[in-house]
Amino acid sequence: MEHQVFEMTHPLIQHKLTLLRDKNTGSKEFRSLIGEVAMLMCYDATRDLPLVETQVETPVSVATTKVLSGRKLAFVPILRAGLGMVDAVLEMVPAAKVGHIGLYRDHETLQPVEYYSKLPQDTSERDVIVLDPMLATGGSAVDAITIIKRSHPKSIKFMCIIAAPEGVEALVKAHPDVPIYCAHIDECLNEQGYIVPGLGDAGDRIFGTQ
Ligand code: PRP
Ligand code: URA
Repeated sequence: MEHQVFEMTHPLIQHKLTLLRDKNTGSKEFRSLIGEVAMLMCYDATRDLPLVETQVETPVSVATTKVLSGRKLAFVPILRAGLGMVDAVLEMVPAAKVGHIGLYRDHETLQPVEYYSKLPQDTSERDVIVLDPMLATGGSAVDAITIIKRSHPKSIKFMCIIAAPEGVEALVKAHPDVPIYCAHIDECLNEQGYIVPGLGDAGDRIFGTQ
């Protein structure tokens, strides 16, 4: 399957991204913005969900109309920062289940360290959307998707807010079957592995830990 990278250029997403990048944006507003951007991105990332025809009685007559075809979704945030996106996407797809993958980057090696993993029991019957605001070296996304693939989901998409070119390349190389949805592909990584210009440490800004 040919790999696909979708950069979401909707004006509302780009506007909110500017506010997210601003170092003067505090945790409360930052959390809200992460959710708002995730909700807008979810709208596009679920564009291919299949529909079936149904009928409902309106107050006036019978409408022949459409509903989602019972396709099952699971959202899997990468802890911690991916948690900031979960509530918003669940608003859009309340029937989805939620799995969690706990990974943190070792600050010296930049390698991801796994500390938690819990996926829905019926993951093999589900389409999975992995959530993490940041795709930097790509190590965390690559490992999270490797872990998820052991449960044989029907499909996997990766949704992030900011991606570095290095991370996109690493993820495409490791998992060419996984489409990437992002709001912006930035310039590069700095020596500490931060995305430039990026938005800083997403987890710390969401949870106010720095
Ligand atoms: C951040 C971010 C990603 C990861 C991206 O998490 O939320 O998971 O870094 O970097 P990578 O592409 O180089 O792997 P972090 O490791 O800071 O953990 P945290 O969310 O617990 O703060
Ligand atoms: N993780 C973050 O939270 N920010 C970056 O810029 C890189 C990794």
